[in-house]
Amino acid sequence: MFQKLEPLGGDPILALMAAYRADPSADKVDLGVGVYQDEQGTTPVLRAVTAAEQVLLDEQTTKVYVGIAGSEAFNASMQALMFGADHPAATEGRITTVQSTGGSGGLRVAAEFLNSVRPSCRIWVTTPTWPNHRPLLGAAGLDIREIPYYDAKAGAIDVPAMLAGIEAIPDGDVLLLHGCCHNPTGADLTLAQWQAVTELCVKKNLLPFIDTAYQGFAEGLDEDAAGLRVLAANVPELIAVASCSKNFGLYRERTGALSVITASAESAAATRSHLMKIVRAMISMPPDHGAAIVAQSLGDDALRARWRAEVAEMRERMRGQRRDFAAAMAERGFDRFGFMADQYGMFSLLGVEPDVIKTMREQHHVYIVGSGRVNVAGLTSTKLPYVADALAATLSD
Ligand SMILES: Cc1ncc(COP(=O)(O)O)c(C=O)c1O
Repeated sequence: MFQKLEPLGGDPILALMAAYRADPSADKVDLGVGVYQDEQGTTPVLRAVTAAEQVLLDEQTTKVYVGIAGSEAFNASMQALMFGADHPAATEGRITTVQSTGGSGGLRVAAEFLNSVRPSCRIWVTTPTWPNHRPLLGAAGLDIREIPYYDAKAGAIDVPAMLAGIEAIPDGDVLLLHGCCHNPTGADLTLAQWQAVTELCVKKNLLPFIDTAYQGFAEGLDEDAAGLRVLAANVPELIAVASCSKNFGLYRERTGALSVITASAESAAATRSHLMKIVRAMISMPPDHGAAIVAQSLGDDALRARWRAEVAEMRERMRGQRRDFAAAMAERGFDRFGFMADQYGMFSLLGVEPDVIKTMREQHHVYIVGSGRVNVAGLTSTKLPYVADALAATLSD
């Protein structure tokens, strides 16, 4: 059966990571990896997570299945984290939330759900978007289209082009936006821009689909959900996916949540039954550990405070690295990187030519994804001046 299979091309980011590991240089810097790194260049287990795990170790008495929709304590906590505890859609019983295997699993279940309700429906994504959106949503059968988003020259969202792009979407289609810390550009909508998008969604009866993988990494846990909450208060239906990979550091535990807002509590119950049918057919039951950690962390006042402080620490560090890098490049005569200080989250696009990326890797051992996406968390205080020197030297060549 498998005799005729040809090998497929590998993932370019994983290939870059392998090349980095194989590089013997003491100077090497990895700006390609898609995980948070601290000042020591490690991706630690959060202290709140370790404390929550200790409670689970002491108190958990069974490993029996959690149920198709996952942990209800987790689902309730995640719904409150995303929408706020007293969001009107929540108090009206119009939000249904199920546990997912990471943000990716939530995206995939949502895509399967959309495809079951409206086969091959169109979903509009930003240009660019997270490269894995295409395989995740496309494999479920959705028809993926693009709206303009990022202006690489300006280092910012091209707001008029984006709004015109949304205006041109056929009525009733799905619009996928990043909740905050847009990957890969780092360029986020302001609250006023979210309001403009909301008005268009209402006018054109678009279904907003918000993917939030970095809540807490831009301006704050509530601030980063403000756009989602405005939309949720004004549209009858909405899909939202949250990942706990970055803000809880739970990458390998595959923890996330999928929420669907419907026009009535009855439709929310019906939607839940459809989501559970899809989950049952795909994975039968979700895993427990990551969701149990999150439920424990958010359900306990002391642990929640500790977690919020750790998220703030990660956020402030990345914001500082952004400002420092922009300043370091300006000191070296390149003030065109000032946009990085105004962007949010782990990623930005450097906006340099492919040969610059190549020289940075081959001559300076600085590993950057081909698109020019850099993970600012990798710019530790010791590595930042080295990267700035290398980039200035490469650009001056
Ligand atoms: C925009 C976006 N959505 C979703 C995800 C999914 O993350 P995970 O499946 O690891 O929770 C990521 C991770 O990089 C992301 O950047």
